[in-house]
Amino acid sequence: MAVTSDERRRNVRIFEDLEELSRAAAQEFLELAARKVAAGGVFTAALSGGSTPQRFYQLLATPEFSLPVRWPHIHLFQADERCVPPDSPQSNYKMIREAMLDHIPLPASNFHRMPAEQPDRESASSQYAADLRQTVQDSQAGWPRLDLVYLGMGEDGHTASLFPGTSALKETSRAVCPNWVEKLSMWRITLTRPVLNAAARVIFMVSGGEKSGMLRQVFEDVQIPPRFPAQLIQPENGELAWYVDKAAASRLSR
Ligand code: 6PG
Repeated sequence: MAVTSDERRRNVRIFEDLEELSRAAAQEFLELAARKVAAGGVFTAALSGGSTPQRFYQLLATPEFSLPVRWPHIHLFQADERCVPPDSPQSNYKMIREAMLDHIPLPASNFHRMPAEQPDRESASSQYAADLRQTVQDSQAGWPRLDLVYLGMGEDGHTASLFPGTSALKETSRAVCPNWVEKLSMWRITLTRPVLNAAARVIFMVSGGEKSGMLRQVFEDVQIPPRFPAQLIQPENGELAWYVDKAAASRLSR
């Protein structure tokens, strides 16, 4: 379903800076998790890596945000991972662990680490898809329907590990797959479009002036088919929100 730039724009919140953006994201996590758990459910979320969400994860680990969360009823997944050891400086898991997991009472089995260091990346992807399906209920279309997915956006318009021109962009039958990223000379494992678009709510977090040009293109370049991976994320029966700071929004036309 093509989204006009106006539709995409309506779900945009512009914050003064990354700190304010991160606090708003942490507050929303609290509210959505509390609502789902109060209704007797398990709250499931997928987390991205990179640098933007780090402060959000750190805030979630502070008493202000961590104490109200009923962590035993929360399950956290990864949106993508670099194919490196979990203690590598490049590991998204390492960043999430140091920023948050080491400081919250989330049961270890409730963080579902993407085993991207395994030599057999196809097997690792299948294992992770099975793990996802074991915990996350399916959407009507038969994909695991996460309650919440946090995504970032690269300056090239990539999101998760769905990079422009890479094979994973075309993946429509698997929930998780390996992806060779030529520009980085690196293998990744990533959730695929069908899973991301099955989520109940997707929040893009975009910060910094260096993203302003791409954010404008993602919002205002409405070619069919879409040119950038971030434009492909449009939850079928869910919500899409953009949390951006003023610097990233500085080149939007309105
Ligand atoms: C990763 C992330 C990736 C990230 C973007 C933005 O593995 O790197 O999952 O998709 O969200 O690259 O990264 P920054 O937040 O560092 O700009």
